[in-house]
Amino acid sequence: MNAVAEVTDKSVVDPVSRWYAGATVRNAPRIYVPQNIAEENIFPPSRQLLAAHPLVEKLGQEAISYVLAQSTYKYMYEIGLLETRFVIDCSLKIINGEIGTDVPEEDKREAITIVIDEGYHAYVALDFIIQLKANTGIEPLSVPQTNGNLDAVHRGYEALPRSLHGTFQLLATCLAEHTLTKDLLSIGKEKEATVTFTKVMTDHVSDEGRHANYFARMLKDYWKTVGTDDQKLIGSFLPNYLRDYLAADFERQFDRDVLSQLDLTADEIDTVLQDTDERYSAAAKSYIDVTIANLVKLLDRNGILAHPETRAVFVQEGLLTV
Ligand SMILES: [Fe+2]
Ligand SMILES: [Fe+2]
Repeated sequence: MNAVAEVTDKSVVDPVSRWYAGATVRNAPRIYVPQNIAEENIFPPSRQLLAAHPLVEKLGQEAISYVLAQSTYKYMYEIGLLETRFVIDCSLKIINGEIGTDVPEEDKREAITIVIDEGYHAYVALDFIIQLKANTGIEPLSVPQTNGNLDAVHRGYEALPRSLHGTFQLLATCLAEHTLTKDLLSIGKEKEATVTFTKVMTDHVSDEGRHANYFARMLKDYWKTVGTDDQKLIGSFLPNYLRDYLAADFERQFDRDVLSQLDLTADEIDTVLQDTDERYSAAAKSYIDVTIANLVKLLDRNGILAHPETRAVFVQEGLLTV
């Protein structure tokens, strides 16, 4: 039984009442980016190790703010990509009958709330970017059109027959929404970031718990309608997909690009990257291990690992012990 179903107050359980009462798009005021980001950390420095390196600090507050602003742009653009290119698309397919058959209208109505919520999250992220540019005069290094997560989803489509793309999309969206919920919770707890950044994270996550529960329920019901052979095919493909989806950029191309904009020599850039690499890699590996363990539990809870053949692949890949 999930957290929603355990609540006994009917008015809180009802997804319609919950959405009207709690959705940020209906209740949250606009978030204003600080005028002077030199006075506060626009991004948590614990998530961008370059900012605290002595060679960057030596360049002064402007350089530190520049590094943190670039991480903010990247984070906000990636939220927009996930929402507009992935989650909204999946929700629209549920609404339009392209994923799932005989989906009750109540569930389609809830999928519409997700389209609205995710549209608002993408709006808040882009509003943040536009304000940050106006207040600081700092231009984003790039405007990403994709990222590692979305590339992995596209490789997933290529690896599976077309007839399974809808099933895979629902599964991949469910995995992404659970991952995002935990990521937002975690980054929202970082102590050193400005309240403005934290507010974007805590507002967003307050909607995502609802979404994660919805997609898990839809996946559990939908999976029962998928044929056994197709279930096993997708099951055997999932360990590689999970690793691909969560792969970290151990080359640190983004960090290198940011440092190249500062007044540093090539040797100094290498020094900053080398000095921070152990912490960077340890954090990335720990994140991948913890997230995969959470997602394997989610898959197990919702029946995706029910076949002995699927479990055997997960055990063989070191993702399950039994
Ligand atoms: Fe969202
Ligand atoms: Fe969501």
